[in-house]
Amino acid sequence: MAVFSFMAVFLFIFEGVIAKVQLEPQNATVLQHSEARFNCCVNEPGWTVMIWSLNRLLALTILETSGVVNSTGRFSASDYSTGGASKWEFIIENVLREDSGQVTCQIQGSEPVTAQLSVQESGAVEIEGANRTATEGEQVTFQCLAVGWFPAPLLSWALNGMPVPKELFNSSFVEAGTVLNSSSSLGITASSSVLVECLATVPALGTPERSGVFLTVAKVDKPQTRDQTVLIAVTVSFSAAALLVLIIIAIVLCCKRKKGASECPAI
Ligand SMILES: *[C@@H]1O[C@H](CO)[C@@H](O)[C@H](O)[C@H]1NC(C)=O
Ligand SMILES: *[C@@H]1O[C@H](CO)[C@@H](O)[C@H](O)[C@H]1NC(C)=O
Ligand SMILES: *[C@@H]1O[C@H](CO)[C@@H](O)[C@H](O)[C@H]1NC(C)=O
Ligand SMILES: *[C@@H]1O[C@H](CO)[C@@H](O)[C@H](O)[C@H]1NC(C)=O
Ligand SMILES: *[C@@H]1O[C@H](CO)[C@@H](O)[C@H](O)[C@H]1NC(C)=O
Repeated sequence: MAVFSFMAVFLFIFEGVIAKVQLEPQNATVLQHSEARFNCCVNEPGWTVMIWSLNRLLALTILETSGVVNSTGRFSASDYSTGGASKWEFIIENVLREDSGQVTCQIQGSEPVTAQLSVQESGAVEIEGANRTATEGEQVTFQCLAVGWFPAPLLSWALNGMPVPKELFNSSFVEAGTVLNSSSSLGITASSSVLVECLATVPALGTPERSGVFLTVAKVDKPQTRDQTVLIAVTVSFSAAALLVLIIIAIVLCCKRKKGASECPAI
């Protein structure tokens, strides 16, 4: 019991000496030219100075008493402190690929705490060629080009908005300087007119970039003639039956008239 009390007192003192520093998020993945935000929380007052570094270069200094010291360029900070806990948000504007790496928050008398920043690039995506036409049953291949991405974008396809199974396409990429070009080819059998779309994305991009073309499918003539033949056959048999009925009625009427010839004049 005595040992336990001693431990509790010791932990209390220990925590009092070294403040708890938390940096969030631990991983941030953002698009180039957007902004990155990190929060550093200190669980109790008395931290005096907070230093933010980007890849070990000092980016911003915050004083507990007066706040941000002369922020420069792309770096700024906002105070979200409440009660006893201090919370500062560090903001990097117009993030560049070179910024990828470590973001560090350190307070006076404490170990630095580090988070990872990944900067990605979204490029363009386009299906080669214009709208297409094909006949039913024909094998059609579409080529999609995604240019200027980092890392390699995930390419996928959709037909009328429905995802295409992976077995129907393949993708590859090549390095083009600091970015990547990706291409994908899709092979489908033309069955009905459809909107064909190619989608490209990287984790930092919320909604994929997309490009679409229309595939117009012309029905093959054969099934259509067969349909018409059936229609004609049905019409002919129906007409023949109707004609037969009319003839019978005519004959019956004719016979009746012959019987009562004295009452009615002959036509
Ligand atoms: C951060 O990213 C690294 C590498 O990408 C990974 O190993 C780690 O688990 C991630 N941490 C969190 C909290 O997501
Ligand atoms: C901050 O900037 C002001 C002018 O904007 C300057 O007078 C002052 O010396 C600067 N302080 C530091 C610590 O650089
Ligand atoms: C493809 O067809 C759609 C609709 O039929 C049309 O809006 C679009 O302009 C066409 N695109 C091209 C490149 O011809
Ligand atoms: C990447 O795509 C662009 C645009 O189509 C092209 O100019 C460039 O040569 C491509 N780079 C490689 C390495 O294929
Ligand atoms: C990708 O698909 C196209 C057509 O579907 C085919 O010509 C090409 O060989 C395939 N490439 C690979 C790497 O499988």
